[in-house]
Amino acid sequence: MSSPIALLSKTPAAWAERSLAHLPAFLADHAVCELQASVYALSLVGMYPGNAVLVDRLSALAAEELRHFRKVSKEARRHGASLATKRRNFYVKALRDACRMQKEPERGLDLLLVAALIEARSHERFEVLLGFLEEPRLVKLYEELVRAEARHGPAYLDLAREHAGDAATQARLEELLIVEARALAGGPGREVTVHASV
Ligand SMILES: [Fe+2]
Ligand SMILES: [Fe+2]
Repeated sequence: MSSPIALLSKTPAAWAERSLAHLPAFLADHAVCELQASVYALSLVGMYPGNAVLVDRLSALAAEELRHFRKVSKEARRHGASLATKRRNFYVKALRDACRMQKEPERGLDLLLVAALIEARSHERFEVLLGFLEEPRLVKLYEELVRAEARHGPAYLDLAREHAGDAATQARLEELLIVEARALAGGPGREVTVHASV
């Protein structure tokens, strides 16, 4: 499996402190992220049904993200938050907008790399959050999520390499790492979300 993705920016403590200060809102946003991670994985399965490796790995990953959604949405409810039906995610939109959708293998490469980067950022942010959490059941939950998200980034990166080859994947990864760091820094500040800029 590929090694972890080295993101270009680090999440500061201020993000975790704000997330904890508004924990119900944060959990509600996080739950929707897990649901969207599941939907995104399944949409790739639907786009590439002839790729047996992709179908097996991403249908399993989608099921895992759905389990995360069930757990995090339960925590959100326990904290008195209800999930938003509509919310804008500037970070994910900026990454999706960078995807070249006209032809293959660029389309699959970009869609898989964007997923790898979002997973890598989730892993990085949940690790920071874990350093601030005190409630034992939340510590247990986020430890489990950190372990899972640590696998997901490299899993998508492996699929990207199989789809487009090592050289093209590496070159595009370097470009999209810059897009990712800019997208995270460029969103509206002071939101209580997983992908808020700080
Ligand atoms: Fe997840
Ligand atoms: Fe994930």
